[in-house]
Amino acid sequence: MIVFPDGFFWGTATSAYQIEGAWNEDGKGPSIWDVFSHTPGKILDGSTGDIACDHYHRYREDVDLMARLGLNAYRFSVSWPRVLPEGRGTLNAPGLDFYDRLVDALCERRIEPFVTLYHWDLPQSLQEQGGWESRDTALAFADYVSVVAQRLGDRVRHWITLNEPLAVVLAGYVLGIHPPAKQDLRAAVQVSHHLNVGHGLAVRALRALCPSSKVGITHVSLPVYPASDSPEDRAAAERWDCLVNRWFWEPSLKGWYPKEGWDMLGAFLPELAAEDENLLHAPIDFFGHNSYTRAVVRSDQSVPVVGAVQVPQVGRPHTGMGWEVYPDHLYDSLLRITRDYRPRAIFITENGAAYPDEVHAGRVADPQRIDYVREHLVRAGRAVAAGVPLQGYFCWSLLDNFEWTFGYTQRFGIVYVDFASQQRIVKDSGYFYSKVAASNGLEETTGA
Ligand code: FCB
Repeated sequence: MIVFPDGFFWGTATSAYQIEGAWNEDGKGPSIWDVFSHTPGKILDGSTGDIACDHYHRYREDVDLMARLGLNAYRFSVSWPRVLPEGRGTLNAPGLDFYDRLVDALCERRIEPFVTLYHWDLPQSLQEQGGWESRDTALAFADYVSVVAQRLGDRVRHWITLNEPLAVVLAGYVLGIHPPAKQDLRAAVQVSHHLNVGHGLAVRALRALCPSSKVGITHVSLPVYPASDSPEDRAAAERWDCLVNRWFWEPSLKGWYPKEGWDMLGAFLPELAAEDENLLHAPIDFFGHNSYTRAVVRSDQSVPVVGAVQVPQVGRPHTGMGWEVYPDHLYDSLLRITRDYRPRAIFITENGAAYPDEVHAGRVADPQRIDYVREHLVRAGRAVAAGVPLQGYFCWSLLDNFEWTFGYTQRFGIVYVDFASQQRIVKDSGYFYSKVAASNGLEETTGA
């Protein structure tokens, strides 16, 4: 039996744009995702987050569902343009009231709120003024964080400044598949820096306003393995790891960029302001770790900057997203982060899998998702036994929801959502997860 530490948080995670709907209600301003999803051809199934899970109206039902499953934590994000429709300036009181009611509903049911302050839905008006390419966005972010902290800070004890800066940079500015859909490496590196400035300012604001709360950031971890033992492939894996993981983690964990990354990005380095070194040095209380899969890479000097390519793992199991299922990556990465950076605490802020679920006679049987979650929890448990300061696990996601450019084609929930009727049906994985939470552990049935 794997037993997790006392007081372990068992939660699920969501984000505002993916579940709330009510995209233009009660004074909310548009976000870059509203504009992007309304642009024809951007989302696989032509859908939008206009209604999504209608959580804005159904949050009580959803909180009740978590309570029924016996979960003691919930990670959600605040929509910046719901609170400040223009990104700065005039407050939209009904928007902030919504989060106030949500936090009250969670606290009434003894569910610990973990609040993410930026999960990709930048106010459109800030995008029109340069978005994260402009340093002003980082300043506006800190002001918005202060507004939220002043209102919710008496009840919220865990804050997450940013969700996955890597995804913002890679999908938004390198691959061009998320808004603002650019392919511009110089802009990408500048954005990565401004996200760090925004994070540093937000940490300071939260420390000042909520001195007893815990502040962290969520990064995705994409452990990198060389395709062979050759020195070339090993070096390629190190370069990939440096740009995809360390470039993003180390400003939060060490206060500055890895030297190897700085050297590799030589021609694209960001503009810095005099106070940035100081600003980036903002120690955090916990490291939020999103974790889904790994990368296997080999050397390929024809690829600019990184000199490597990813090698598809043909014949291995993959989820509906096409992501390889390789649970050992979680153990490896938790140990590595603990060894190299000694964070005070780690939360797995996302882990989960999409599979094509169906309802039969009112039930959703999803054995693959149960396996996925079980195998990852076993690795998490082993990591705890090896000394990793893991204090909570958040399954992505509570509900099937709007999966960004994949629209509604990918179901990640432990609760099924019938989007036509908005009916929720707990999947078998939801009952499985509920049992794990109730026993604060699980049988180690895996032999792997
Ligand atoms: C993560 C995102 C989250 C969700 C999952 C599947 O990168 O943070 O919003 O889309 O992937």
